[in-house]
Amino acid sequence: MLVTHTKQELAERIAEWRQLGDHVALVPTMGGLHAGHLSLVELAREHAERVVVSVFVNPTQFAEGEDFDEYPRALERDKLRLKKSAADMIFAPDVETIYPFGPDKATTVSVPGLTENFCGATRPGHFDGVTTVVARLFAIVQPDVAVFGQKDYQQQLVIRRMTEDLSLPVSIITGETVRADDGLALSSRNGYLSDEEREVAPVLYQTLCFVGQELQSGRRNFAELEAMAVERLIAAGFEVDYFAIRRALDLETPDRDCDDLVVLTAARLGSARLIDNIVVSI
Ligand code: PAJ
Repeated sequence: MLVTHTKQELAERIAEWRQLGDHVALVPTMGGLHAGHLSLVELAREHAERVVVSVFVNPTQFAEGEDFDEYPRALERDKLRLKKSAADMIFAPDVETIYPFGPDKATTVSVPGLTENFCGATRPGHFDGVTTVVARLFAIVQPDVAVFGQKDYQQQLVIRRMTEDLSLPVSIITGETVRADDGLALSSRNGYLSDEEREVAPVLYQTLCFVGQELQSGRRNFAELEAMAVERLIAAGFEVDYFAIRRALDLETPDRDCDDLVVLTAARLGSARLIDNIVVSI
């Protein structure tokens, strides 16, 4: 497995693969790799002969006061993990490689509408940073497919929209959320939890499942269910950014006979901001 920090070496290797007729999949990450990321690598390999994993802690998607400096950076450990996976190459660029004119002067890609609520509302500018870096990674790697996790439900919808709207020649694939045995979605940010908080954290997924079951058993009073869930999370010690039942397709308010719903939430526990969701077909 090759590890490269430069666009040139990446392009040379990809050109070799292309000559062999191989397809290329990209799995964008910010490192701190866990089994969730690795599941995306395996899924990518089902769709392309070659898999590139990018590891880049993207400064433009962190707002002032967020955890950009604390965010786990462990490239050596990430390399070891990926060595045992289906990845062919790690692309770990520095900031100048991704933002040649500097992050503050970067040409920005912005998706209106879908980014206004939920994580877009609680983290202003966050999704502009995500779409800006993903568009750059697509331009540099030119993958046939790119794989994202359902864990960041709104993110994968925003990226799908960007890709469709700009006619980018990349197929977007979404991989399922990988969880710990107690249901907590794996996340690089779980490391911020104290032992006590880690015990409480699975309540987030339990609450999503409770709401999912209520929906499946026919309950349609969405606002009441949302309020109940928020109460439950607050009682467990969370500070809730949002808890919402929405249409899975576009995060719009669902009507009573909507088929596919997503229940999505973001909540803070100590210094960790956890997000999770489930899709419910009713
Ligand atoms: P990061 O948080 O490192 O996540 C990289 C990818 O892994 C994302 O597509 C995310 O949805 C997925 N992922 C995270 N936890 C997961 C889990 N438990 N199960 C399955 N997939 C999981 O998301 C980002 O980085 C960045 O915003 C990025 C897209 C790389 C742009 O900078």
